[in-house]
Amino acid sequence: MAGRRGALIVLEGMDRAGKSTQGRRLVEALRAAGHRADLLCFPERTTEIGRLISSYLEKEKNLEDHAVHLLFSANRWEHVPLMKDKLHQGITLVVDRYAFSGVAFTSAKQNFCLDWCKQPDVGLPKPDLILFLELSPEEAAVRGNFGNERYENSSFQKKVLQSFYHLMKDKTLNWKTMDASKSIEDLHIEIKSVAEKTMKDIQNKPLGELWK
Ligand SMILES: Nc1ncnc2c1ncn2[C@@H]1O[C@H](COP(=O)(O)OP(=O)(O)OP(=O)(O)O)[C@@H](O)[C@H]1O
Ligand SMILES: [Mg+2]
Repeated sequence: MAGRRGALIVLEGMDRAGKSTQGRRLVEALRAAGHRADLLCFPERTTEIGRLISSYLEKEKNLEDHAVHLLFSANRWEHVPLMKDKLHQGITLVVDRYAFSGVAFTSAKQNFCLDWCKQPDVGLPKPDLILFLELSPEEAAVRGNFGNERYENSSFQKKVLQSFYHLMKDKTLNWKTMDASKSIEDLHIEIKSVAEKTMKDIQNKPLGELWK
């Protein structure tokens, strides 16, 4: 089956929409169905850059906003060789947050334009599918309080959501909005079905480059 590649499937959405829950479930289900699949979460906190980001998010460290944005992007870039290797070996990658979160969070800050925010991520592996888990702030609140990490407050989150909606207007990308207020199981069944269709559709197509 030479040449058949895995799909790059990204989960995006607001905090507590269920990205991590669905990412784990999807990888488990794909493996159970006989596919090869791996989960990757950004920020990936185990590298040197990842540890720096983690201490920033935990408010142990203060870093300049532009510098932080570039670190988040660098954290994705440092995983690109591994991602490409896996995709070309036929492994589907399920990615919990990607460049869209990076851009949405920084561009929600004062004095950042969306275009500047996108530049560092231009050329990353292009997702074959981006699942946007849509959940109202009210419904998200029922799932527990915000933690103590940076960005976990509701006025900032509303600005982040506006940035996501702006990014979703890009018709060169395969965005699918999913109703994240459904039960974990119902949402999982829908996500699995969309994911398997994408895996079939793209298996003989080349991997694209994001925002190019
Ligand atoms: N469909 C659902 N219905 C009800 N509760 C859910 C659903 N999906 C996830 N949850 C619960 O909501 C909480 C947040 O889920 P999860 O950690 O998967 O969200 P997330 O999008 O990864 O959040 P974050 O952005 O903070 O990482 C967890 O307690 C989880 O069990
Ligand atoms: Mg999560």
